[in-house]
Amino acid sequence: MNSPNTSAASSKHDGIDTLHVELSERRYPLYIGAGILDSFGEYYRQHQLPETVVVITDSHVERTYAAQVQRSLKRAGCTVLLIVVPPGEKQKSFGRAEAIFAELLSRRIERSAAIVAVGGGVVGDLAGFIAATYQRGIRFVQVPTTLLAQVDSSVGGKVAINHRLGKNMIGAFYQPDFVFADVQTLSTLPRREIICGLGEVIKYGIIMNSEFYYSVAMLHEKILARDASVLQSIVAACCRMKAEIVAGDERELGRRAILNFGHTIGHALEKAGGYSTLKHGEGVLLGMLAEAWIAVKLGALPQHSFDVLKEDIADIPLPRLDEFSFVFDELYATMLIDKKAKAGEVRMVLPTDIGAVTLPQPVGKKLLRGAIAFLQGYCKSRSAKSSA
Ligand code: NAD
Ligand code: GLY
Repeated sequence: MNSPNTSAASSKHDGIDTLHVELSERRYPLYIGAGILDSFGEYYRQHQLPETVVVITDSHVERTYAAQVQRSLKRAGCTVLLIVVPPGEKQKSFGRAEAIFAELLSRRIERSAAIVAVGGGVVGDLAGFIAATYQRGIRFVQVPTTLLAQVDSSVGGKVAINHRLGKNMIGAFYQPDFVFADVQTLSTLPRREIICGLGEVIKYGIIMNSEFYYSVAMLHEKILARDASVLQSIVAACCRMKAEIVAGDERELGRRAILNFGHTIGHALEKAGGYSTLKHGEGVLLGMLAEAWIAVKLGALPQHSFDVLKEDIADIPLPRLDEFSFVFDELYATMLIDKKAKAGEVRMVLPTDIGAVTLPQPVGKKLLRGAIAFLQGYCKSRSAKSSA
């Protein structure tokens, strides 16, 4: 795997990739390795973090990775309180946050404690939101266990819960003390979740590195087979790219918005499917295709680059979508409350090539309607092909 050419500092020792996110006031490390979870406690203590630790996790990884982290912390002399939530997006809610605050307060967890999130992006976003707000902010560490969380959500400090009117609408920028990603944990991740992570991996290639894009396209099978050494290189490469973007624009005042490529239409599709027909990464894969279609119509993206993307996405297994019919007006209403929308106009990041994108641009309703019609046809033809 070729490392993308970025400025984020990195090194490799004892098989562990160490990168840094350089912020204006401090830097923090991302450790990426295979089979490193047992040593989590040592790393935690090296960072001189509090002895009292609250591990927040979900019930799918409670007995495996959360238990491993808990044992490792105890060996390192920490006292651990474990909080387990059910799995799923619905946990990013006021109700769940309130229940966790109540538990922390009734257990008299003080400001001097730390929170460690063990799980996917749902646990990371929820636990990060609790860490950012409990007693005005306590120390925080991310231990991501999904591909999506390892390449994206655990890095960069976005933490949030959902509001009934919109996803991730209540939150903060709250950076962790460090991120500890063990790719071995991905061996138990369901294939569908690996595909969701692959969506975000492909996104990095399109937005900033064509060489990375083409090398990943050759590796879809190995990624789906959870090859640990391929996964470690990919997670490290994606984290390097994300670290570089976050270092330049921590609070998304400009370039960080490119990470949102595919998400304007992707989020609308996810919502239209009730967050169950399509998962986040699947929505992003389809969203990238539809947004690339718009870029072709605007003359921003050459047709042959679109064809490459379309062919690569055709290779990726997605759920059957022939029953998934979406209503344009509903999708449009969701796009209008997307965080990039301005003055009543939908705005989105558009690719200009494989490896390059624009900042968010306004896109008119007619073009959006065309893109959604294209996508509806695409979903039907995919399903027809897979059932042929
Ligand atoms: P998720 O957290 O729901 O995890 C997916 C599923 O995998 C869950 O059922 C979980 O219990 C299970 N799981 C986790 N690790 C496992 C493992 N190693 N083995 C077996 N099962 C495992 O979903 P996700 O895709 O990780 O994250 C999606 C969330 O991330 C969304 O809420 C999205 O908004 C958020 N997100 C945040 C950012 C950010 O910058 N903060 C970026 C992208 C996405
Ligand atoms: N996942 C988008 C961001 O971190 O900005």
